[in-house]
Amino acid sequence: MCDGVLVAAVEEERLNRVKYAAGFPQLAIEYCLKTAGLKLEEIDHVAVPRDPYARLATKLFYAMRMPSFARERAKVLVKFAGVREALAAGFGVDASKIRAAFHRVEHHQAHLASAFFVSPFERAALLSADGLGDFASTMWGIGEGDRMRIDDAIAFPHSLGLYYSGVTQYLGFPKFGDEYKVMGLAAYGEPERMEAFRDIVRFDSNGGGDGFRLGLEYFTHHRTGPELSWADAGKTPTVGRLFSDELGRKLGGPARAAEEPLEQRHKNLAASLQARLEEVYLGMLRKLAARTRMKAVCLAGGVAFNCVANGKIFGQTPFEEVFVQPAAGDGGLSIGAAYFVWHQKLGKPRSFAMKHSYWGPEYSREEIRAAIDANEIGRRGYAIAELPEEELCRRTAGIIADGKIVGWFQGRAEWGPRALGNRSIVADPRRADMKEILNSRIKHREIFRPFAPSILAECVGDWFAQSHPSPFMTLAYAVRPEKRALIPAPTHVDGTGRLQTVTQEANPRYWRLIKAFEQATGVPVVLNTSFNDNEPIVCRPEEALDCFQRSRMDALVLGDFLIARQG
Ligand SMILES: [Fe+2]
Repeated sequence: MCDGVLVAAVEEERLNRVKYAAGFPQLAIEYCLKTAGLKLEEIDHVAVPRDPYARLATKLFYAMRMPSFARERAKVLVKFAGVREALAAGFGVDASKIRAAFHRVEHHQAHLASAFFVSPFERAALLSADGLGDFASTMWGIGEGDRMRIDDAIAFPHSLGLYYSGVTQYLGFPKFGDEYKVMGLAAYGEPERMEAFRDIVRFDSNGGGDGFRLGLEYFTHHRTGPELSWADAGKTPTVGRLFSDELGRKLGGPARAAEEPLEQRHKNLAASLQARLEEVYLGMLRKLAARTRMKAVCLAGGVAFNCVANGKIFGQTPFEEVFVQPAAGDGGLSIGAAYFVWHQKLGKPRSFAMKHSYWGPEYSREEIRAAIDANEIGRRGYAIAELPEEELCRRTAGIIADGKIVGWFQGRAEWGPRALGNRSIVADPRRADMKEILNSRIKHREIFRPFAPSILAECVGDWFAQSHPSPFMTLAYAVRPEKRALIPAPTHVDGTGRLQTVTQEANPRYWRLIKAFEQATGVPVVLNTSFNDNEPIVCRPEEALDCFQRSRMDALVLGDFLIARQG
């Protein structure tokens, strides 16, 4: 960030190709410096979103009871203590030449800053909710101008994120990041176990009645520590078991193993899990709205990725405007820490709002051309054409309307986990079988997971029950009943869609593609899924070409180049 304006942001996983990669983000820092045209020695401030001294008393209390947890934390703290040294070693400069001031920003304050300071709002209520960070899981407050004020927080071990992760594990999804799958599964069930789930997460009347408590007998993390290991550099983190045997007794059976079939019982439990999350989350938001009297709310933390719950904010709370920046999870802490220092510590005025998500690497026409030439694709029966934008969009829209699957690679890579029209796979939303085709040919993911629609922003109200913008795919709305049959592929089983609203301003070429599709079909919507196949989203044109060939897509658009199977 230079003088308050975001210049570049990328997650290490896109560059080192390891999903959710742990460790020092050397490649991401190199990319950001290169994009800003700066050397490490020219940086004035380095902000790290972790404060080892936050909630020290709570930490010590639990550390005494959990020696293994304390050891694990100590290892991580040592890593964080040496940021200056790690930078110096990574960039081959003498540590004394780094003139930057180093700042530590507490985890949830960085989350709140990442949501508010890049939002379009002058004033807003703020809520951060996740698994755990700096020994807290939830924090709320108010943002006004270049200042934010923290009102309260909920400390370890009570956590909506760990609640969701624990039940996600019980349902047979053990991997880091699997909560998203269970949110999709929830739509297939009935929330018939609300009584049980209201005991697993309880409203808490302490501290003004704004919080919640976990029924700790159903969890293990307060005894053993949440065994989330980020210690292995360059690897995906792993999560230890979070739920106790008592949870199985409460929910009527042992945990499902990952390879066991999904029964209706599991779907009903997923529905109950999600419904209870919504009760607590929306309840907290209602109280926040009543206390702050704000019309707008900014959300961050892993729980803020629950687009199904977010979509209900308009109907079930007094908030009229919602902002969730595209990297609402821990990836977004980096920009949050930077903006916290800029405004809250240095007192600089606001001068930036995040209107799009395209802050990652981009590749020139020459680099794309070279990647195509180096690939054997030209000798394997594909036609390659370089086209002006209008023709490129029109022809690509025609290919999509013919039921073909198109890889769409343009400009700068998206910030955050969603593909938003620059590293996307695009397909025809009108075909009911498109979901299965995509799953069997390309994505290889669970059939119960929905695909998302991208819609021209000016058409949202005609197709969805809400018209508030959702530029970063962080809100799900009901598709209007009369439109559901027209876009069956990205309409979930419960009639909702996790939509991206596309404006001409934010992404002119993607907007033009969807507009061309509308001109050809009358439908201002395309199905949009991330450009990858069980790997981090593609970043470089070479990775797009590889994924394209591996996955048997029908056409690939790389910048101005259209690559299509002949015949
Ligand atoms: Fe977090």
